[in-house]
Amino acid sequence: MVLLVGNWKTAPEKISEASSLARTALALSKKYKKQLEIVVCPSFVHLASVLKTSKALKVGAQSAAPSFDLAQTGLCSAGQLRSLGVSYVIVGHSESRARGESNALTAEIVARVFEKKLTPIVCVGERERDAHGWYLSEVKDQIETALAGISKASLKQLVIAYEPVWAIGAHATREATPLESLEMIIYIRKIITDMFGSKAGDSVRILYGGSVNEKNAKQFITEGGAEGLLVGRVSLDAKRFAALAGSLIK
Ligand code: PGA
Repeated sequence: MVLLVGNWKTAPEKISEASSLARTALALSKKYKKQLEIVVCPSFVHLASVLKTSKALKVGAQSAAPSFDLAQTGLCSAGQLRSLGVSYVIVGHSESRARGESNALTAEIVARVFEKKLTPIVCVGERERDAHGWYLSEVKDQIETALAGISKASLKQLVIAYEPVWAIGAHATREATPLESLEMIIYIRKIITDMFGSKAGDSVRILYGGSVNEKNAKQFITEGGAEGLLVGRVSLDAKRFAALAGSLIK
């Protein structure tokens, strides 16, 4: 089963557009129910209307508050998300990190998400690839800190998304190759193995994200070692998202 996650970020502007995208995602998840698990991650404001589409549609949030303190203006708690019907939470996205979410803060959010029995999609990825391989320790730090307080039992619920920052969004310098994804995913499995043992390292679900589209998606699965994809821009275009989902089946 390939996990296909759409990260809608701060789009679309209108509820009607979000509902229409949600209906497309629902239709795709029914059509490919044996092959794909589709999750859409709207902004907080669209969560309720997207959840109304159908109980069958899996929905994720794009962050959660790092503590259960009731005084955190501007945030949503993992408990609120859970009571609404959300099942996944993106944590540590590079755009959140760029706004100041440190590795330590990511770890707090991951812990709260697990405590409310939601599935965190922990995003990791280097800002750039340097010739000396420092980028490897950047990713290692992100994972070690984010998962430091996590029990082995919760790992079954964990999803990691490898997203090289240089390959994300409209300002990407280039697309990553499937080989670059494969090498890093093997390295991530090694880090998890060192932390929690080889069973955990083998079984943790790892996605690839960053400029995934209908042309390159399948390769990240077949050659890039990913068990799923985290898709930004293309998930906001119903036709392209449908083409991307279809390309994974062929
Ligand atoms: P992109 O975004 O597919 O638009 O590059 C991916 C992401 O930020 O998760």
